[in-house]
Amino acid sequence: MTQDELKSEVAKAALRYVIPETIIGVGTGSTANFFIDHLANIKDSIKGAVASSIDTANRLKLNGIRVVNLNDVDEISVYIDGADESDHNLNLIKGGGGALTREKIVAAVAKQFVCIADESKLVDSLGKFPLPVEVIPMSANYVKRQIVKSIGGDPILREDLTTDNGNLILDIHDLNIDDPKTLENDLNNIVGVVTNGLFANRGADILLLASQNGVNIIK
Ligand code: 5RP
Repeated sequence: MTQDELKSEVAKAALRYVIPETIIGVGTGSTANFFIDHLANIKDSIKGAVASSIDTANRLKLNGIRVVNLNDVDEISVYIDGADESDHNLNLIKGGGGALTREKIVAAVAKQFVCIADESKLVDSLGKFPLPVEVIPMSANYVKRQIVKSIGGDPILREDLTTDNGNLILDIHDLNIDDPKTLENDLNNIVGVVTNGLFANRGADILLLASQNGVNIIK
């Protein structure tokens, strides 16, 4: 199977975690897009979906799936989204598509977070994938200097990208991530940082991982 076929398989497997008659959260990226396409087949079983990006909201609507504002719901039963990396404890790096802040908000509200990925995303230790950090535009250079001084790694401004929130992304290369929870908190404490792509304090509850031998469930 190609990587896209693996992504589609794992996205289909996530349908069994969709709880009928509830509002669900939907992530962003190519794997999440496959999920949306499969979700279209059971769209009448859910009340609606909260989107983690403008792209996702548009794709949901194109598929006839009702999009709901987060402020209009009290509860999200399950959040289904991809990742750029997952370790074996289901700490994640996300934000390759630049949607990390809204993804983190929807994941925080959801009762359960089901991460869907192909097997290339499972790593022993996070950090080979550059860690995205969303920053308020006027703070970008200050945050860069603070990262170099107090965190380490090599923060690089992502060219030609403005997030759905009107902000910029710094990608931190060459990071050693020994303690994901502490690093997530330390980065978020730098003034000007909106949030970062470490999902450790609220990691995934379940990782569905597609391999050539089928979809494995990691809890
Ligand atoms: C977007 C994300 C995506 O979940 C992550 O980049 C994985 O994307 P893909 O499913 O295309 O490999 O965090 O901000």
